[in-house]
Amino acid sequence: MEKKTSKRIRLTSWSQVREAFHSKELRQAGYSEGAVVMSDTLLDLHGKAHRERRRVENRLFRREIFSYWEHEVLGRTIDITLNPFVQSKQGDLSVIGYRCAMNLTATIAGIDQDPSDAKQTETLYGIVKKFSEGATLLHSTRNKDQVRQEVKEAMGQFAKDFFDPSREIRERLIEESNGGTINQEDLPKDVLTTLLRNSEQLGLTDEIIFREICFYLQAGAHSTANAFTHTVDDILNWGQHYPEDLNKARNDLSFVQRCMHESLRLNPASPVALRRPLKDVELSDGTILSEGAEVTLDLILANRDNKIFGDKSGNYNPYREVPEGIPRWGMSFGAGRHACVGAELDGGLEIDPDRPASEALFGTVAIMAHALLSAGGRRDPNNPPQQDPNSERKHFSSYPVIF
Ligand code: HEM
Repeated sequence: MEKKTSKRIRLTSWSQVREAFHSKELRQAGYSEGAVVMSDTLLDLHGKAHRERRRVENRLFRREIFSYWEHEVLGRTIDITLNPFVQSKQGDLSVIGYRCAMNLTATIAGIDQDPSDAKQTETLYGIVKKFSEGATLLHSTRNKDQVRQEVKEAMGQFAKDFFDPSREIRERLIEESNGGTINQEDLPKDVLTTLLRNSEQLGLTDEIIFREICFYLQAGAHSTANAFTHTVDDILNWGQHYPEDLNKARNDLSFVQRCMHESLRLNPASPVALRRPLKDVELSDGTILSEGAEVTLDLILANRDNKIFGDKSGNYNPYREVPEGIPRWGMSFGAGRHACVGAELDGGLEIDPDRPASEALFGTVAIMAHALLSAGGRRDPNNPPQQDPNSERKHFSSYPVIF
């Protein structure tokens, strides 16, 4: 087996990427350029500091909370966001997707915002888009200092218009709960409340709490919106060949979840993850990841590995059978220590025919896609979707739909 020793290494097979995700000697990399918004966030921490923060934040990302979320919060927020489009019988898939995703992610992060106020959602989305530009600064072709300055301005606006008022409310509620005026169970179930309640234990400064919330907003909103658009697009394409399946998707949420997992496998929201070995690491196939090297974990190729997903791994097939123990969505939610905390929230529980229907969780993205399809959403025959010519990946700049 050939040994790789170069300073830049790209891992492309399922087993290599999986092993790299699970190695504790590989540190998260790629966020130092974007430190303005990413420094000390969960994704950028390593070792003990990561473990401790993750343990606390995980308390929020539990099944009971997801169940509360799916049954109590999600439907209402989606209805409020989707209804104006359904009433006017038209909309754009990408606008519907990011408005829903932004409203839902803000709720989870702990940022108060009125979902029926489209202008406010728009403003928040603009801010969060700037945070993402900051986080991915490593790959930017723009003047980096200029981008940093814009990110700082966006953070200032976010603090004033969104974060500070939301924080004040939560601090007051925590005080009331400490004083026994309200029950602990009645505190908001969101990341900001969780961090404020545990700030001393975790040694969190105000700046770290602020950046963590900025990070959550971008981690949740773009990936959810992206997965939604791909899920609907793939179902509509598949429906051109199998109209009975499109009908099924309009009526059967569990089928939409299956479709969502297949779309996510083929279109991971983050196409790569980056890591830096803290010492030389040898993978089980003999590949050497030398200390300090820049290791790219290619999720697109790993998710299409023929050995795992078969000869037609590049084709979309919602009925695909996957080997035991392999997630249908591939590694699109990452794996190992930094695996996505929002995976079950967005993707639901793994499909298991033996699970009673009352315990099933379908996930935010499938519920959003099903809501759109069951409202009769379909492509506008007079306005075909447009792909962004500046993106190498399949990314829609517009996707008109009618109801
Ligand atoms: C379809 C939707 C989503 C996709 C595809 C996705 C993907 C990912 C991936 C690939 C990672 C790991 C990155 C790495 O190891 O370098 C990750 C981590 C993370 N995701 Fe997600 N994500 C999604 C939705 C969400 C949502 C809704 C939230 C929160 C509301 C969220 C919060 C996070 C956080 C906090 C981490 C960092 C975990 C850690 O470092 O321990 N994600 N996500």
